[in-house]
Amino acid sequence: MRRSAVLLSAAAMAKGVVAGLYPGMTPFNHTCALQDPILSCTKGANHCLTDSCCTETFGGLVLLTQFWTIYTDREEQGQVLPKDSWTIHGLWPDFCNGSYTQYCDLSRQIDPVPSPNTTNGQPDGTPVPPYEGESIEGWFEPYGKLDLLEYMHKFWPSRGEDSWFLWAHEYAKHATCFSTFQRECYGPKTDALIDLWEYFETAIGIFRTLPTYDWLADADILPSNTSAYTLADIHGALTPAFGVIPYINCGGPRYNETEAGAGSTDNGRTQMTEVWYYYHVYGRVQSKDTVPVPADIVGGSLSNCAKAENAVWYYERAEGSEF
Ligand SMILES: *[C@@H]1O[C@H](CO)[C@@H](O)[C@H](O)[C@H]1NC(C)=O
Ligand SMILES: *[C@@H]1O[C@H](CO)[C@@H](O)[C@H](O)[C@H]1NC(C)=O
Ligand SMILES: *[C@@H]1O[C@H](CO)[C@@H](O)[C@H](O)[C@H]1NC(C)=O
Ligand SMILES: *[C@@H]1O[C@H](CO)[C@@H](O)[C@H](O)[C@H]1NC(C)=O
Ligand SMILES: *[C@@H]1O[C@H](CO)[C@@H](O)[C@H](O)[C@H]1NC(C)=O
Repeated sequence: MRRSAVLLSAAAMAKGVVAGLYPGMTPFNHTCALQDPILSCTKGANHCLTDSCCTETFGGLVLLTQFWTIYTDREEQGQVLPKDSWTIHGLWPDFCNGSYTQYCDLSRQIDPVPSPNTTNGQPDGTPVPPYEGESIEGWFEPYGKLDLLEYMHKFWPSRGEDSWFLWAHEYAKHATCFSTFQRECYGPKTDALIDLWEYFETAIGIFRTLPTYDWLADADILPSNTSAYTLADIHGALTPAFGVIPYINCGGPRYNETEAGAGSTDNGRTQMTEVWYYYHVYGRVQSKDTVPVPADIVGGSLSNCAKAENAVWYYERAEGSEF
């Protein structure tokens, strides 16, 4: 049930500000069950009007991003890709206007290879010091989270590095920029890793509702090394399944730099590598009460892939990369 937002007294704002990452963090005390969930990127989703811990007030345009990777370069260590499934890239908090920020809390910096290496990606940003501590893989067992670890190894693999580098990167770069994952939201006595587990579990919970492989397969779009696909058909398969249009990302050569595209003016990329699903969310992102929104909701493009007919490759995975 969703009722209109209860607007909390603006006087509460005047009472002062709790220590927090963001200026104007609300002084409310974060018992989210006491509020009706408010939809992110609406008028009520404002830190002056509601508790930032209970409504996403900072990065209210939420993306669940997935990879189509065809090898990991770590097959020998058992780092392989799940058969008939895409894998998780991350859960990202874009601003409602489509721009974004990153590495919002350096006290939670656990990314061994910060990318970019400053908070704003520019030389004048605050440097993000590389994490040099132990592998976070060892943190799961004492929390009774070996099932989570196993799932992440399977569905959240990285390429060319241990998978936990990717998990730690996504957390440090993106989780720290959601208002609802701020440490302050959990209170001083809560265990220090709670937001980490909640971030991983929220990303996974949303990922599990987005079977990209099956949605494409239902439209006869299967990995193939012999025939390429048309971007419009890929969008045509995913859009009705998701409800609104997602963003399709490609890498690889530009179409008009390939033999097939010689002479064309289409310089889109030709190898499908990612899909980005966009949402607004009711209440805490952790509640996963999501409302799909089109990837161009605030303008911008829907893909960087080539638009020409049969220009996009959805490659089969390398031999031995899949299990
Ligand atoms: C929040 O908690 C603090 C003390 O922990 C208290 O002083 C304050 O009144 C509380 N705020 C609300 C809105 O309940
Ligand atoms: C987008 O929103 C953010 C957060 O409110 C703001 O800091 C930024 O300046 C905005 N960017 C543009 C281009 O309007
Ligand atoms: C970030 O990387 C660039 C390019 O490698 C390098 O020139 C710069 O010194 C680095 N900055 C920091 C703060 O590490
Ligand atoms: C590819 O297309 C772009 C944009 O239409 C054009 O500027 C570029 O010259 C083309 N490149 C080749 C190699 O044809
Ligand atoms: C399909 O093609 C890609 C790209 O060239 C290659 O990496 C992969 O190993 C191929 N897969 C199979 C099963 O041949």
